[in-house]
Amino acid sequence: MIKLKNLLLEMTDDGVEWDYLLSEPYTARNHLAAAWCKDSKKVLEVGSYKNPIYKFYTEQNTKLITVVDSKTETFEKNEKIGSKNVKISSIGEKLEDAKITDHDTVVALGLHIPSRESFEVFKSHCQNANIVILEGAINWPATVRQISEIIETLSQSHNVIVDITLDFSNSNVKPLNPSIPVYDKRRFIVLKIYGKQND
Ligand SMILES: C[S@@+](CC[C@H](N)C(=O)[O-])C[C@H]1O[C@@H](n2cnc3c(N)ncnc32)[C@H](O)[C@@H]1O
Repeated sequence: MIKLKNLLLEMTDDGVEWDYLLSEPYTARNHLAAAWCKDSKKVLEVGSYKNPIYKFYTEQNTKLITVVDSKTETFEKNEKIGSKNVKISSIGEKLEDAKITDHDTVVALGLHIPSRESFEVFKSHCQNANIVILEGAINWPATVRQISEIIETLSQSHNVIVDITLDFSNSNVKPLNPSIPVYDKRRFIVLKIYGKQND
């Protein structure tokens, strides 16, 4: 049963903190996503929050990582990861307000984009990407709807090549605010464009 308070949180996102997503067990999501970007040249992460994907990179072939989230800082820097230089562009804005060119890989973990306008922009980035990596709670209705919509929108161009459920219930992670629910069953998917290599 979805409680009214959770429905309101789902509609607005205001005041919601997702600290439990930063806990060690839940970093399995970020590591998985980083592994699936290893051959991508340009990665865009939407909703990078306090755990942007570049923090989970090891030695990879990526040249540019753009992260966008109004909850992140704005900066550009070159960072050495392993033996390679990666340009990191962090944009502290909402996706719909930032002018971001297409990237060959799009990542959204903890997917929930409350604004329809922004979700349409997000979908168009997904359509133009070779790889799309999505993760979200399996019992958060808006997330379930958004993942389904992206799979449907991309069905003529992309295959779902990974579709796994992650169960964090044994990790027993508690949020700082006990009234915030923990969504411990999560879906992780990777969509890949038909017959095209990343360039
Ligand atoms: C549930 S949190 C997920 C945080 C992190 N990616 C993770 O999974 O651990 C969703 C994040 O998406 C961001 N977000 C929501 N709408 C957005 C938009 N229109 N543009 C950019 N980021 C957005 C929120 O600010 C929030 O930080």
